[in-house]
Amino acid sequence: MNDTFLKACRGEKVDYTPVWMMRQAGRYLPEYQAVRSKLTFLELCKTPELAAEVTIQPVDILGVDAAILFSDILIPLEAMGPTLEFHEKIGPVFPAPVRDQQAVDRLIIPDPDEHLNFVMDTIRILRRELAAKVPLIGFAGAPFTLATYLIEGGSSKFFFETKKMMFADPGLYSSLMDKITECTSVYLKAQAAAGAQALQIFDSWAGILAPGDFERYALPYVKRIIADLKEATDVPIIYFANNGATLLDLSKTSGADVLGLDWRVDIARAVEQIGPDISVQGNLDPSALLLPEKQLRERVAKLLAGAGNACGHICNLGHGIHQFTPPAQAKIFIDAVHELSGKNS
Ligand code: CP3
Repeated sequence: MNDTFLKACRGEKVDYTPVWMMRQAGRYLPEYQAVRSKLTFLELCKTPELAAEVTIQPVDILGVDAAILFSDILIPLEAMGPTLEFHEKIGPVFPAPVRDQQAVDRLIIPDPDEHLNFVMDTIRILRRELAAKVPLIGFAGAPFTLATYLIEGGSSKFFFETKKMMFADPGLYSSLMDKITECTSVYLKAQAAAGAQALQIFDSWAGILAPGDFERYALPYVKRIIADLKEATDVPIIYFANNGATLLDLSKTSGADVLGLDWRVDIARAVEQIGPDISVQGNLDPSALLLPEKQLRERVAKLLAGAGNACGHICNLGHGIHQFTPPAQAKIFIDAVHELSGKNS
C-alpha cells in the first residue's frame, strides 16, 4: 500500500508530497454521475457496494494518495432521529429544526453498528478493495458545524438561530452540543475500529465565529472528541476549520495531528505559525483548477515551496472541488504535485 499520506500526517520523511482533494468523489466526475443517476444521494450513501465504488473512482482515475469514505457529515445527525432531506439546488434540509429542550431530549446517541451499519460495511469493503492501493480516510462533521444544520434546519447565510441559541440560551446550546459530541466521538471510534486509517473532522462553519466565541462555543467539543479518540486509537486526526485564518492559534491546541488550511491563508505563514509538531493539509483555491496548465503548475510549485517542500505537508485544495471542474484539470493538479515534489513515476 502507498502509505505516503499516512507518513505525512505523522510528519515522517516522505519521498514526495501526497495529495488528495476534499469532495474528490462527486459530481465533477462523469463516472460518479453514472452511478448517482440510478438513485438518490442518500440512497447512494446507504448502499455500501456503490458507496465503495464511488470512493475508489478518484483513486483510479486521478491517482490521488488517499481515499475518503463516500458519505456525508449529516448522516449521523439523521441517525440521531431528525428527518433529513436533500433537495436539488437547495442542499440539505431538516424539516423540523432542533430549537428547544424537548427536541434535544428526543435525540438519541446512535449505535454505529446498528443505526449506521451501512457506513461500517462501506469501510470494511473499502479496506479490502484498497488494500494494495491507498489509505482510507473516515470523517465526521465538527459539533458546531453539525449543530448549525440542526438548529437552522439546513444551510444558512447568517446563522441567526444558531447564534441566538448560543448567546440567549447557553444551557440549551450546550446540551445539544454535548449530545452531538458524544454521537460524533462514538461514530469516529467505530470508523477507526472498522478500518478507517485516518479521520478528518470538518468544521465548515467555524469561520463565522469570532475567535473568543470559537474558543468558548466550538473548540472545547472538538478537543473532547480528539482526546477521546486518542485514548481509543492511534490513527492520525485532521482538523479542518474552514475560513479559519483567524483561528489558527486556537486550532493548534485542538490535539489534531494535522490542521487543514483553507485557501485564504498563506501556507508559508501558517506553517510558521503552527510550528513543526503539527502537519498541514491544503490549500489551493479550488477555482485555481480552472487556470491554464502552465499557471496551474506554477501555483502548485509555489504552494509546495510555501509549505517548505517538506515532510508534514499533505497537498489538497483549500475546500471541496467545485462540481463544474473538468476532471482533466484535476488530473493536471494531482500530476503536478507528484512531479514537482519529486515522485518517480
Ligand atoms: O469528500 C468526499 O469526496 C467524500 C464525501 C463527502 C460528501 N460530503 C459528499 C457529498 C464529504 C466528506 C462531505 C462533507 C460535507 N457535507 C461537508 C463538509 C465539507 C464542506 O464542504 O465544507 C458539508 C458541509 C456537507 C453537507 C452537504 N452535503 C451539503 C451542504 C450538500 C449540498 C451541497 C452540494 O454540494 O450539493 C451536500 C451534498 C453532497 N455531499 C454531495 C456529495 C457528493 C452532492 C450530492 C449529489 O450527488 O447530489
